[in-house]
Amino acid sequence: MELPSSVIDNVLVKSEDVPADALPVRGFDFSSGRMDLHSLLISYTTTGFQATHFGHAVTEMGRMLDKKAQPVPEEALKPHLDEPGDRPVDNCTLFLGYTSNLISSGLRETIRYLVQNNMVDCLVTSAGGIEEDFIKCMGHMYVGDFKLKGSDLRSKGINRTGNLLVPNNNYCKFEEWLMPILDRLLEEQRSQNKVWTPSTIIAELGKEINNPDSVYYWAYKNNIPVFCPALTDGSLGDVIYFHTFKNPGLIVDIVQDIRKINMIAVKAVNTGMIILGGGVIKHHICNANLMRNGADFAVYVNTGQEFDGSDAGATPDEAISWGKIKTTARPVKVFADATLVFPLLVAETFARRNGDNKHSPGPKRKKRYLDSDMKATSSVDSDSNFNPVANTSFDAASCTDNDVDGKASTDCCDTSSKVGDTKTDMDCDSNGDTKTNVDNDTDSHVNQAEIHEQ
Ligand SMILES: NC(=O)c1ccc[n+]([C@@H]2O[C@H](COP(=O)([O-])OP(=O)(O)OC[C@H]3O[C@@H](n4cnc5c(N)ncnc54)[C@H](O)[C@@H]3O)[C@@H](O)[C@H]2O)c1
Repeated sequence: MELPSSVIDNVLVKSEDVPADALPVRGFDFSSGRMDLHSLLISYTTTGFQATHFGHAVTEMGRMLDKKAQPVPEEALKPHLDEPGDRPVDNCTLFLGYTSNLISSGLRETIRYLVQNNMVDCLVTSAGGIEEDFIKCMGHMYVGDFKLKGSDLRSKGINRTGNLLVPNNNYCKFEEWLMPILDRLLEEQRSQNKVWTPSTIIAELGKEINNPDSVYYWAYKNNIPVFCPALTDGSLGDVIYFHTFKNPGLIVDIVQDIRKINMIAVKAVNTGMIILGGGVIKHHICNANLMRNGADFAVYVNTGQEFDGSDAGATPDEAISWGKIKTTARPVKVFADATLVFPLLVAETFARRNGDNKHSPGPKRKKRYLDSDMKATSSVDSDSNFNPVANTSFDAASCTDNDVDGKASTDCCDTSSKVGDTKTDMDCDSNGDTKTNVDNDTDSHVNQAEIHEQ
């Protein structure tokens, strides 16, 4: 019996011609001898799946930065909307949002880089994303394992966030640091009728921490507002709760902050949203952009799915339906863990344009203003004996106060090699240079005073 011709017709359906600009799928060729980060990441666009989304996200962030670099059109200046203390408007206001766990993770250093270099204009995070930054100035978090048993860790006073571990002593230090600051805020509320908001409290804490490792130290220095509508949902809230017994009366006003973030969106000439993770931080930025009939550019990186109707999983297209992203925008969602993706996105966009990738510098741009009068005093000490994940079984016997605190201060390069044994040239360069830079105000490749002309 012969194969029926209908089967052939069904299986071997003739294709229409593909569009002339269609990109063939092609991944990175390791035999090319061109193994550098930029070449590898360029190949992502044609690799498919989330690698292609990554490539689109690089393009979209490039559009934001191109727009930001353009002068503000005369007619777009709206001086009547300025309020005291406002950050000057440029041609594209960038909102960066991230969930708390991302400050717990090493993404803190990527976020700090953006804030230190004045590359973003408005931050939104949740309470853990505020306090973990300050707590890291007082004691390290450590690389652990998702499978470490909760009851074992609890008996040893160790908390787990995913595969990261934080000794509870760090929270005790945070409480000791924060309590007198809350006393002062209350005193100023009483004596000067000061009205505190989450963003003004975060700026005060950034000033108080006085540590260049901190994201919020740089946000304070560079006048980048930080919004945290649920400021009390974390250790900060615990300490504020304790404070209501010790010295009651502190009031935190969230109304001024919703006005402030919405006005930033309203008066912006163009806006770009970079949102890592979902939940409150994602919605808070998108909702502010609704006030201007939508953001002009948007990149989401998150693991949320939309089948459950959650805002965390909602795609950019859903946000377009609400007027939170403009109908003309070309937003991108990368479905991925932000810890994998965001450093690579920054490497291909902000850092590359800023000339901070010395192996593949990209087009040189003007460096933006940085404060260089700061003397670095990292308050986190390290200990070479502390190895919380030896054979993935956590040895809390070695985690005493002294283990976290007891040794002379070391630089970030040393720390990364001791704690995680994952030191790389890039880790060492970025952390070491930052430190040298701030300490000595030298002429390194990230010299803050250096101006690169295009
Ligand atoms: N370290 C912490 O995570 C921590 C610490 C203290 C308090 N809290 C509090 O817990 C509450 C909830 O935390 P949250 O608002 O930070 O969000 P969340 O941790 O609940 O995450 C919200 C959503 O973001 C996405 N997401 C989270 N991590 C991601 C990642 N690595 N990559 C990609 N997508 C990711 C997921 O879709 C997730 O459902 C907040 O009020 C916060 O203050 C968190």
